[in-house]
Amino acid sequence: MPVTLTPEKQEEMFSAARAAFKKAHAPYSNFRVGSAILTERGVLYSGCNVENASYGLTICAERNAIFAAVAAEGSGMRIQAVAVATERDGPCAPCGACRQVIFEFGPDALVLFRGQSGTEQMAITKLLPEGFRL
Ligand code: THU
Repeated sequence: MPVTLTPEKQEEMFSAARAAFKKAHAPYSNFRVGSAILTERGVLYSGCNVENASYGLTICAERNAIFAAVAAEGSGMRIQAVAVATERDGPCAPCGACRQVIFEFGPDALVLFRGQSGTEQMAITKLLPEGFRL
């Protein structure tokens, strides 16, 4: 079962994600994204999207936040929750590649993002049924 977050903790995560999107390097899409990861240790890590003139090298905010968490805590890092924020008002569920990376480190993770009708909270297994495992 995914974790239940207090409204205060959710706000703390969105606030970290919003601070992160302000650092984004998104001159090609002009779509700045920020993400915050809450690990099982109770630590928050954040990341922003970083684009490149060679478009395919772009990396999403969620993966940057997750990789920062792995760099800090090591391969045993486990995700409790992920929040995604953008500078726009529209929906921003994590992309398919990020869902698979979230699943790798948090098969029970809760994902918070802006949906069609306000903030959504969804288990990663709902966003990514039958995630790949080796
Ligand atoms: N992007 C993210 O950072 N996270 C997502 O889940 C979806 C897309 C970024 C990648 C690119 O820099 C921009 O948004 C437009 O696709």
